[in-house]
Amino acid sequence: MDLEFKGRRVLVVGGSYGIGLASARQMSVEGADVAIVSRSAGNLQTAADEIATAAGRAPRQFVCDVTAADAGAQLAQWVSAEWGGAIDAVVTAVGGSIRSAFADLTDEDWIGNYTFNVLSTVRTIRALLPHLSAGQAASIVMLGAAASKMPYQHQIVSNVHKAGLLGLNKTLAAEFADKGIRCNLVAPGRTLTPLWINRATKMSQEEGRSVEDILADFSKDIPLARFGTADEIARMVVWLSSPCASYITGQAINVDGGIARGLL
Ligand SMILES: NC(=O)c1ccc[n+]([C@@H]2O[C@H](COP(=O)([O-])OP(=O)(O)OC[C@H]3O[C@@H](n4cnc5c(N)ncnc54)[C@H](OP(=O)(O)O)[C@@H]3O)[C@@H](O)[C@H]2O)c1
Repeated sequence: MDLEFKGRRVLVVGGSYGIGLASARQMSVEGADVAIVSRSAGNLQTAADEIATAAGRAPRQFVCDVTAADAGAQLAQWVSAEWGGAIDAVVTAVGGSIRSAFADLTDEDWIGNYTFNVLSTVRTIRALLPHLSAGQAASIVMLGAAASKMPYQHQIVSNVHKAGLLGLNKTLAAEFADKGIRCNLVAPGRTLTPLWINRATKMSQEEGRSVEDILADFSKDIPLARFGTADEIARMVVWLSSPCASYITGQAINVDGGIARGLL
């Protein structure tokens, strides 16, 4: 199936490793003109080398911390200078959780995690809106979490903020439809990226158990009985970002091995 990515301009925020990198690599292999964004020039170069090996062409790179107040202005300025205007797709893959009981979380924890998951996404989309409006079959895909439909214990901040992204996604899909921009959300379950590898490593040190043991425990309530891979999540991100998904907007699609048990 031709996903119609040839020449398509795609910006992946959080594209230096994990689900963002897998998405950027797959779209580059499909022929897209990809730019990856993260906080670290070193991580971006490592990712660019991996993408160049897979796709035969290195992606564009931009260092930007999307939790910074001026991140939107930085992104818009860079896109104008680099591409001269229109882009066709944006993926926002920055976010995460704090593992904690409710009583132990401070205002700073709440505000910090809101900025990390929600405000970074809002700023990115707002800054790039004029560029997407000028694009072809334009698409936004934001990364949410299966936890937004089935809250996990001890992850209350991201349960709340990823649920906020469901509202953002649905609202923007309706508001942007007449600009020709589709807006969708991919909700991963537990996925073996640096995010989870770091979490399991920390738990292993705290609990004196092996990382393998911890991952096996967290696989028990997943119907498919294992963590997902970044590539498995990315395949949905890529498809929704492609013109092949032309009649899909406002959807929040789980790629989670069946962990979220709700009917809807
Ligand atoms: N993995 C899971 O199990 C899972 C489950 C549910 C939802 N999700 C969601 O899926 C998305 C991607 O997750 P992931 O597992 O791929 O995460 P990850 O492994 O932590 O990768 C995050 C990416 O974002 C970049 N990044 C982090 N903070 C940034 C900032 N302030 N500004 C710019 N870039 C930043 C990182 O690069 P640098 O360090 O180079 O900046 C990296 O490229 C997140 O929204 C996450 O909440 C993941």
